[in-house]
Amino acid sequence: MRLTPEEEAILAGEQGETRARMLELLVGLGKVYGAERLIPIRSAQVSGASYKTIGRYGLEWLQQLDARVAVPTVLNPVGMDRDRWREMGIDPGFAKAQEEVIAAYRRLGLALECTCTPYYLYMTRYGDHLAWSESSAVVYANSVIGARTNREGGPGALAAAITGRTPEYGLHLIPNRRPQLVVRVENGAPLHDPALFGAIGYLAGKLVGGQIPLFEGISPGRDQLKALGAAMAASGSVALFHVAGITPEARIFSYDTAGLEVITVERKEIEAVLGDTPVEAVALGCPHCSPDELGTIASLLAGKVARIPLYVFASRGVIERHRREVAAIESSGARVFADTCMVVSPAMDRFRSIMVNSGKAFAYVPGMCGAAVRLGTTEECIRVATGEGTEGSRNGR
Ligand code: F3S
Repeated sequence: MRLTPEEEAILAGEQGETRARMLELLVGLGKVYGAERLIPIRSAQVSGASYKTIGRYGLEWLQQLDARVAVPTVLNPVGMDRDRWREMGIDPGFAKAQEEVIAAYRRLGLALECTCTPYYLYMTRYGDHLAWSESSAVVYANSVIGARTNREGGPGALAAAITGRTPEYGLHLIPNRRPQLVVRVENGAPLHDPALFGAIGYLAGKLVGGQIPLFEGISPGRDQLKALGAAMAASGSVALFHVAGITPEARIFSYDTAGLEVITVERKEIEAVLGDTPVEAVALGCPHCSPDELGTIASLLAGKVARIPLYVFASRGVIERHRREVAAIESSGARVFADTCMVVSPAMDRFRSIMVNSGKAFAYVPGMCGAAVRLGTTEECIRVATGEGTEGSRNGR
């Protein structure tokens, strides 16, 4: 790799031991993936934030780092709402360890937004180079915004944050962003509820693995694109997708699909992912709710009472800016928590079955929470949580 004189100096330890080791890590990654150089990044987003996922060894590794991030860097969700963890039923021992993890990241200079949706809070633009690690945020940044990031591991993203650079390979290079196959969704244009896009993503992710799909036959808005990408990143390892006529780079590549394999997702397959078994709790907000999603949940809950635990997850910044919707949701008995989610918090581990409206949560809840999982539309989730029945009309959603 070609390094600049400044990078050589960092490697030689002129900016401290931690920064040198972090650059070494990036150069190593770059060599493995054939990068010719390091490029500056606009921002970083770091996963490995919940004590549930990183444990004592991860915490000790963080605590021995001695540097500050060089670019704006947001932390992924942690294992609890930092203010309301007692209300979540979090064990005080876990809370103490989680606070230590947060303190370690604070010392490194990260913004403690603790969210997988940093794009609702910080401006990210088309063409920006990033080093993000939360898979749902990566696929959103690449696909919906048209920014450029590989799917970084936690340490790789942190190394990029501390040095302000990332190796230039993979999705940082335009030719590597071409669609590799076409996914045709049968009768998909009328679909609207994000849960149905979660189901499509869940199915498609299993079929495409880590390839870049170009979707045809759907008309998603931003919340639907978020749900689609997050699910594909979970059931497969998709980091970028295109939707013909909708996502920003589709206009560059849509005309270049001759010879690509075409796979079809049928409407009946999408319906079959949705379940109807009884559940003990309902969890919404994976990825963290957008302002519109909070508004939808608030209106669906108007005048109703949650009969089983109903948790909604969003970033602290979005919650603070939408207090009216949050108050409306909580007046039903539901709770809106910041900083965490149904997958990375141990709070959900006490339930044997959980209903979600997210294809990503649908993929992760069984393994991460040890619970049976059911996928339903947002409307169905609210019906179940308020004891109004388990079935909803599935036409025209
Ligand atoms: Fe975000 Fe947690 Fe889902 S980190 S994408 S809400 S699993």
